[in-house]
Amino acid sequence: MTRLAGKTALITGAARGIGKAFAEAYLREGARVIIADIDQERAAETANELSRKNAMSVHMDVTNTESIQEALGMAESDGFGPIDILINNAAIFSAAPITEITEDDFARCFDINVKGTLFTMQAVAQHMINKGIKGRIINMASQAGRRGEPLVAVYCATKAAVISLTQSAGLNLIQHGINVNAIAPGVVDGEHWDGVDAFFAKYEGKAPGQKKREVGEAVPFGRMGTAEDLTGMAVFLASDEAEYIVAQCYNVDGGQWMS
Ligand SMILES: NC(=O)c1ccc[n+]([C@@H]2O[C@H](COP(=O)([O-])OP(=O)(O)OC[C@H]3O[C@@H](n4cnc5c(N)ncnc54)[C@H](O)[C@@H]3O)[C@@H](O)[C@H]2O)c1
Repeated sequence: MTRLAGKTALITGAARGIGKAFAEAYLREGARVIIADIDQERAAETANELSRKNAMSVHMDVTNTESIQEALGMAESDGFGPIDILINNAAIFSAAPITEITEDDFARCFDINVKGTLFTMQAVAQHMINKGIKGRIINMASQAGRRGEPLVAVYCATKAAVISLTQSAGLNLIQHGINVNAIAPGVVDGEHWDGVDAFFAKYEGKAPGQKKREVGEAVPFGRMGTAEDLTGMAVFLASDEAEYIVAQCYNVDGGQWMS
């Protein structure tokens, strides 16, 4: 169980949810982990909870290139460098009928989910190239990036953009020995989905918890995913076994989508 021994991983948005589960799995596999999040307090709690020795937390706002550089600098000065693996996991959900989408919601969602993914990838790829590291970058896409949804236009568009960026960056960076791939989860239970459920309760007149129940029942596997369901793919894509995998997006969704 040490497929990532000697590696250092930077995971954005890892204070909670799927990113936290990735951090836990990477630590189990022998990696050291930098938990980077805009929620500094929670990131620190998560790092302390997971490992006082092999995990550190750092404040990072993925929408701000200075903040990304500062986070990389702090990781290095705390002895958590160079970085071998990046998981671009930070994102927000946004939903509204087309007639109610605001410019602010659009800008915020694209800023975090798309610009954040691109410029964190750029900064870490440059760091890997400078250090001569044949690294791995994993971007978090979504089944929402595979097709539109009536009430989720902006979020779906951001995740389609993440799949496209993964393809372009994957093709461009493999010349440096950096593999870029993506994971497209389906519906994953957790705090993120509590917000999604509340949104659907408002717009579709559902009782709290009803949307979650319905989407879980609709998954071919028979239930919603858990963050832990995704960790196998995240470890695999970062491991030596995935060396020949370039610019791909893998569905890990209980059979929701086939491509
Ligand atoms: N939960 C699902 O059903 C689901 C499904 C498909 C894809 N995904 C994707 O998986 C990833 C993780 O999802 P989750 O459910 O754990 O989400 P989450 O909302 O629980 O966690 C997101 C984390 O990102 C952080 N964050 C937000 N803005 C940030 C910023 N500007 N800079 C740095 N950090 C920031 C938050 O503080 C939070 O800790 C996301 O990319 C999400 O789109 C989730």
